[in-house]
Amino acid sequence: MTILKDARGRQFPYLRLSVTDLCNFRCNYCLPDGCKDHNHKKALTVSEIRHLLAAFAALGTRKVRITGGEPCLRKDLPAIIETAATTPGIENVALTTNGYRLQQQLPAWHQAGLNALNISIDSLDPQVFHTITGHNRLNAILRGVDDALALGMKVKVNAVLMRDFNDKALSTFLGWIKDKPVSTRFIELMETGHSKSFFEKHHYSGDHIREELLQRGWSQTPRKKEDGPAQEFTHQDYPGRIGLIQPYSSDFCDDCNRLRVTSIGQLQMCLFADGGFDLRSLLQSEDQHDMLLARIRSLLVHKNDNHFLQQGITGGTQNLAQVGG
Ligand code: 5AD
Ligand code: SF4
Repeated sequence: MTILKDARGRQFPYLRLSVTDLCNFRCNYCLPDGCKDHNHKKALTVSEIRHLLAAFAALGTRKVRITGGEPCLRKDLPAIIETAATTPGIENVALTTNGYRLQQQLPAWHQAGLNALNISIDSLDPQVFHTITGHNRLNAILRGVDDALALGMKVKVNAVLMRDFNDKALSTFLGWIKDKPVSTRFIELMETGHSKSFFEKHHYSGDHIREELLQRGWSQTPRKKEDGPAQEFTHQDYPGRIGLIQPYSSDFCDDCNRLRVTSIGQLQMCLFADGGFDLRSLLQSEDQHDMLLARIRSLLVHKNDNHFLQQGITGGTQNLAQVGG
């Protein structure tokens, strides 16, 4: 067995698997008019997912992140989590969610074997949260975060940084994580096919957050290979961390450690790739395992060195609900 490697020598222990492209939120930077087109009914079945993960695990995948759209809109999400958690070789199963009905669903996810949760919380002000997402659910989501911590899960919070919405929110987030082992990550707004004018108006550099953190006595931890693209900051008085994701920085892709599979079974080399490569036809039976391994391996030549976001080239990605952020 050889571990997957691309031409730059990057390895891919991390797979992001989208299980639906449907979402029920209307985040202003993603689906401002709600989710119009989707392939929810055509999403991979649990059996197809089982075959897919067996192949990736055989090629060195150790961590699977289940993403959407919004993954909890799949009624069989606990079965998907369990499939990932019981695939030999997969050591970590994480889920990215908007937190919709988090408290109600958490026990089933936990029981199915989920280790880690990423929850999108762009603001801790209920009104601003409502404006950004179209849903007045902040307080219920925050209760869900506490429940997840009580269950011993690793919890990360994602906040997309936006001028006029949450560019002054760092101190509120710091107050919130003072006694919580939560890693909060600020993600610079990325331009996607449908968001050019929004991007131009609201993109806000993460450099401001870095400066503020350093001023407040936080220190940047040396970047480890397995961290992927986030830069991390720690402070002795805080149990959690702050992460900064700056897709526009020139070395952002150097430590890329991930591949993506879309909800309809296409292998995507990058968030901003020009589409994907079909794997689904090889997910129909266990007998196809070896062909599937060979296909995934051969497709890696299409993994580019970098994305081309700096030049405003956003590939085929109209919004991140399509490919799971
Ligand atoms: N720029 C940056 N982050 C985004 N996300 C969705 N769209 C964008 C964008 N245009 C984030 C979500 C979520 C993760 C899945 O991707 O906020 O945290
Ligand atoms: Fe918001 Fe994520 Fe849904 Fe996009 S996919 S609208 S970012 S919750």
